[in-house]
Amino acid sequence: MKLPEIHIPIIELPVNNNVKLFMKREDLIDSQISGNKYWKLFFNINNYLEKNPENPFIITFGGAFSNHIAAVSSVGKMLNIPSLGIIRGEELQDKWRDNPTLAFANQNGMNLRFVTREEYRDKEKLTQSLQKEFPDALIVPEGGTNEDAVNGVKMMLNDETKDFDYLCTAVGTGGTIAGILKFSEDNQKVIGFTVVNDSSLENTISELTLKQNFDLIDSSFGGYGKIKDENIRFINDFKERYGIPLEPIYTGKMMQKVFELIEEGYFPENSKILCFHTGGLQGIEGANLLLQKQNRNLIIK
Ligand SMILES: Cc1ncc(COP(=O)(O)O)c(C=O)c1O
Repeated sequence: MKLPEIHIPIIELPVNNNVKLFMKREDLIDSQISGNKYWKLFFNINNYLEKNPENPFIITFGGAFSNHIAAVSSVGKMLNIPSLGIIRGEELQDKWRDNPTLAFANQNGMNLRFVTREEYRDKEKLTQSLQKEFPDALIVPEGGTNEDAVNGVKMMLNDETKDFDYLCTAVGTGGTIAGILKFSEDNQKVIGFTVVNDSSLENTISELTLKQNFDLIDSSFGGYGKIKDENIRFINDFKERYGIPLEPIYTGKMMQKVFELIEEGYFPENSKILCFHTGGLQGIEGANLLLQKQNRNLIIK
């Protein structure tokens, strides 16, 4: 069995301005292997399975609330492949069952191994020792960004997406925007909404794509993983208005910034803007638990 190709429709989000806003809902691919994760894993997994059909085994890395860990564990379950998640933070060893993402990954059959932050940081050393321990395993990097991932993102584009002036995506490690940019038309502008403060992103993206028709716009709203009341209000209003859920780390911040840019007149009149909904909705439950712990009166609906 392999991951199948899936066609995702584009829908219009009516706005009261002189631009046309659309969304491609990659979040609907699968409730758990959602969005960009599916496409970033697509060639990684399918190429590996072609070479190792007998005893496949997948290893990857992630933090406590990682969408990537959730996605890889779901792929493992879907294709009946055992998997191992290397999780940042020894302290989670005794309390991972209270973490919805890790509990979900484990229910999918993913074994979890907890390492210190220091060990986690040295990915090269960690990867080498894992490759020694599991010589035939597929080791997918954190966030799933590699060349196969960038090429998999091509599947998010098609003849319909060529019709847009702007292609918008949230940016973490840069793999998704690199794929969109690499396969975009030269007359299209690709906008990356960065949620992580990482000064090397621009170079990483240029090197992966050799293209320059992109802009990065800071959409961190105070820092990676920080959730402000205004972010929650935006997500809840957006869901009420369009019936589309967003999560607070990537897609919520991107869409909030897109609306700010529309209000500021950033996009010329009659521009056609396409935003990719990159999923990650499994993170809402964990985010709400954190908000509760912080005694915040708001929750993400
Ligand atoms: C929901 C969601 N959107 C966007 C991204 C950004 O993807 P990339 O790491 O390829 O930049 C991520 C990354 O984890 C994500 O989970």
